[in-house]
Amino acid sequence: MKFVISSIIVALCGFFIQLVLCQIDGYVPGQDYPIYNEVPRGLSFKCDQRLPGYYSDPEAQCQVWHWCLPNGGQFSFLCPNGTVFNQIARVCDWFFNVDCPSTPNFYTINEDLYIIPNYNQPQPQQG
Ligand SMILES: *[C@@H]1O[C@H](CO)[C@@H](O)[C@H](O)[C@H]1NC(C)=O
Repeated sequence: MKFVISSIIVALCGFFIQLVLCQIDGYVPGQDYPIYNEVPRGLSFKCDQRLPGYYSDPEAQCQVWHWCLPNGGQFSFLCPNGTVFNQIARVCDWFFNVDCPSTPNFYTINEDLYIIPNYNQPQPQQG
């Protein structure tokens, strides 16, 4: 019984240590997925001429994503290690769920954001 409990504790500890170190079994960090510690400088992505929204950046292996504001402003962020920005879901996702090079094909998904409803339309009469 003692042995079983200590085995469970060891297994749980291993699991949590792995979580803390952000290692993913069977993959090599920095090789199989990017491990930036900050958004690299000098990326070519610019929000100019783009719709406001969220953009995964293949130049930084998709670990970087950019937020383009309606006023043209830009903020850039890093996904946690082991994850990259999934353009279709617009969230950081496990790297093995994302085909990074193809993410620009899905930039138009941002067309569904920042749509201002037309409040000037006459409302249908009630009753
Ligand atoms: C990713 O891991 C590297 C190497 O361990 C570390 O330097 C970096 O800060 C980590 N990045 C993030 C976003 O946690």
